[in-house]
Amino acid sequence: MNTNKYDEIIKKNYRLKITHLNDKGYGVASNLLINKIIKKKIVLIVPGTLAGEIILAKPIKIINEKMFFRISKVLTSDQNRKKQDCKKFLICGGCDFRHINELWLQNYKLMDLNDFNKKLKIKFQVLPIFQSNNYSRQRASFACEIKNGVFKVGFISMFKNQIVELNECKTLNRSLLKIFQSFKSKLSNFIIKKNFKFKIQINLLQKGGDVLFDLHSFSTEEVFYIDELLNFLISINVIRVSFKQNNHLSIFPFNNEHKHDLGKLNGIQLYSFPQPGGFLQATKSGERNIIKYVLSAVKGSTKVIDLFCGSGTISIPLNQITKTICVDSNKAALEGLNKGLKFNTSKHKYEIIHQDLLKKPIEKKLLNEVDSIVLNPPFKGAKNQINEIVKSDVNIVVYVSCNFKTFERDAKVLLSNDFMIAWVKPIDQFPYTNHLEIVAKFVKI
Ligand SMILES: C[S@@+](CC[C@H](N)C(=O)[O-])C[C@H]1O[C@@H](n2cnc3c(N)ncnc32)[C@H](O)[C@@H]1O
Repeated sequence: MNTNKYDEIIKKNYRLKITHLNDKGYGVASNLLINKIIKKKIVLIVPGTLAGEIILAKPIKIINEKMFFRISKVLTSDQNRKKQDCKKFLICGGCDFRHINELWLQNYKLMDLNDFNKKLKIKFQVLPIFQSNNYSRQRASFACEIKNGVFKVGFISMFKNQIVELNECKTLNRSLLKIFQSFKSKLSNFIIKKNFKFKIQINLLQKGGDVLFDLHSFSTEEVFYIDELLNFLISINVIRVSFKQNNHLSIFPFNNEHKHDLGKLNGIQLYSFPQPGGFLQATKSGERNIIKYVLSAVKGSTKVIDLFCGSGTISIPLNQITKTICVDSNKAALEGLNKGLKFNTSKHKYEIIHQDLLKKPIEKKLLNEVDSIVLNPPFKGAKNQINEIVKSDVNIVVYVSCNFKTFERDAKVLLSNDFMIAWVKPIDQFPYTNHLEIVAKFVKI
């Protein structure tokens, strides 16, 4: 776009009417004047607004034919709007919905699921939504930057490529936030480089923080005063630290307590051993609910396959009640899983398979050995694997999904191959965003 025209637009406030919400839950508006100046059709997007509202807003950024605005004033507000409860809302890029009451948000999150159900001949039961609380996120990634000696750590801003520093966050678990706050105040004391960007991931395990520094192409010694840093990390309740240089990980366990509490099953306390920077379900309460609903869905099975098993959030409890086959493409996660399965002694046999399921799904022959299939794929779903599942004789499929679009795509394949959905449990692990996790039980008719 012509920069002068953009400059002309960007300095001003515009009165916009929100016509509808897009698939991220952001308000979409139209304004003839802007289209006239730009001389092409562009979508105007205003996060933090609701359909029907009239607002004053300033443009902040254009990304792929979309012009994003920041609200200056709400002129006519929706009755469900509430006062936002975080100063960094719509700045830090974490939450999308702190401007709206909870009932509206729950209905909004369930809309796609309910619409899908309405279109089906055989309806399914939508169980009550489980809601994770504030201060419950057990994993988080932060961006860090040191520029001419000035250090910043925080989230990447919603629309500008800059770091938003935080003192408080209502989403993060308080112990995780405490580690973050220590990084904010002291980490710069241990950094050698003067101009540098890197990432930090913190997973909160049972006894403390499991921290991964992603240093890109640099070595630990080039970036940090390593001895001092390690002492500091121990003092702030970090139980293991790992440094990633390109694809190489150097791991420093401070003790052998890097286990993750999966809760009790039949009176037995279970643990998993996620690898450094490994996948954890977003909240502990969400994780407990996923386990509970998966186990109830496969009740009575004598052998279950857990596809996309990771380090065993689901496989470990499953193995307490049935023989288990566990499959994932991540070797480090599977090493953690192996450790976890041995640690949580069980009478049931297990098998671990290292396989890329998106390229090479588990075939019908092996699937026919089990009574139930559990799958918890990444965001892009499990298209090829579902195509193999429908060729098998298995009667129960439990699909744990974090992306309704790919779930719907995959569900349609199951539904057109003699399956029906018995029930769906919505589990909200990402409050104040448009994400929703679901556990769905499919049974063969
Ligand atoms: C949403 S996580 C679920 C992990 C596990 N169920 C849990 O709750 O801890 C998705 C998992 O899919 C695995 N994954 C991603 N791509 C894969 C692929 N192409 N083949 C097999 N596994 C894959 C990841 O390693 C990750 O463990």
